[in-house]
Amino acid sequence: MKKVILGNTGELISELCLGTMYFGTKVSPSESHALLDHFNQAGGNFIDTANCYAFWRDKGVGDESENVIGQWLKTKKRDSLVIATKCGGRPINYFGDLDTVQLEGLSYDTIIESVENSLIRLDTDYIDILYAHIDFMDYPIEERLIAFTKLKEQGKIRFAGISNTESWRVEQSQNLSKIHDYITYSCVQQKFSYLRPKRSADLWVQKLLNDEMIHYAEDDNYITLLAYSTLLSGLFSRPGEELPEDYHTTDNMQRMALLKSLAEAKGCTLNQLVLSWIMHQKAKVIPIIAGSKVEQIEESMGAAGVKLNEHEIMLMNKAGE
Ligand SMILES: NC(=O)c1ccc[n+]([C@@H]2O[C@H](COP(=O)([O-])OP(=O)(O)OC[C@H]3O[C@@H](n4cnc5c(N)ncnc54)[C@H](OP(=O)(O)O)[C@@H]3O)[C@@H](O)[C@H]2O)c1
Repeated sequence: MKKVILGNTGELISELCLGTMYFGTKVSPSESHALLDHFNQAGGNFIDTANCYAFWRDKGVGDESENVIGQWLKTKKRDSLVIATKCGGRPINYFGDLDTVQLEGLSYDTIIESVENSLIRLDTDYIDILYAHIDFMDYPIEERLIAFTKLKEQGKIRFAGISNTESWRVEQSQNLSKIHDYITYSCVQQKFSYLRPKRSADLWVQKLLNDEMIHYAEDDNYITLLAYSTLLSGLFSRPGEELPEDYHTTDNMQRMALLKSLAEAKGCTLNQLVLSWIMHQKAKVIPIIAGSKVEQIEESMGAAGVKLNEHEIMLMNKAGE
């Protein structure tokens, strides 16, 4: 797997990142370790988790994914890996309904404490990338920058990122960092796939990677973008199925039809074509790939070998417009 540079840091990360949201809950620890091994043996060094994965699963509390990675890390050379985790999205009150869950948020004390707990679960001295999981509007940007900067000074984190945000918020934050010499964001993580949800779709706290953010990252060239939920939970592996309500639009039906014909012509799978298209955006976008079986990860890793020419990119961009 090829390596690319994270933002303007000089740090080399694999062009695909492994998502571990269901490790230790839906995916057993031993299966999770097999997936991590497989990804790593193929040259993948970039792993994504959070301090809350996956609290909403049956018997989940939010420690599971970090714990599973921590056990796996014991057998690995720590500095050969880039481990990203997130803070802010852990529940302080959860009664089985995401609409009423209260999340920990991004106060200074919460961030510091959450990193201490992540370090214990991950069984490591440092986190490579710490994301603010959600760009909560009701916590001042500066407060989290001060906490992140302190953690960097203490050697507990190396780089910072933000997820579920808007480009103007990122710019505001970067400017504050420049003025006060705080840590800057090196990456932004957003929801992104080839099909687009309806405007009316309820995305909860999730924010889409939009054209504006892509242009922002392209122009500034110091932020790496990460795309999550790229395969829409396996939707592209069931091409005959009706699209789910939130994606049931004429545009998306046209996009699905193009995916099927182009994938067939190129001799790749729909999943691979979607991931490849994500990797062919104007700014650097790293898909977070996920699965519960080695074959799924294997298929997704194959996307890196699917090259798109300008005509194919244009066709894919224009479909459904
Ligand atoms: N920042 C955020 O707010 C945020 C939010 C969500 C996710 N994330 C990150 O992004 C990662 C991926 O998220 P996601 O799970 O929503 O991603 P996704 O790409 O939408 O779904 C991945 C799921 O698709 C199915 N799949 C994958 N390859 C397949 C194949 N070849 N054939 C059939 N099914 C296949 C698997 O489902 P089965 O396991 O059921 O087979 C797999 O678990 C997470 O692990 C997490 O690290 C971040």
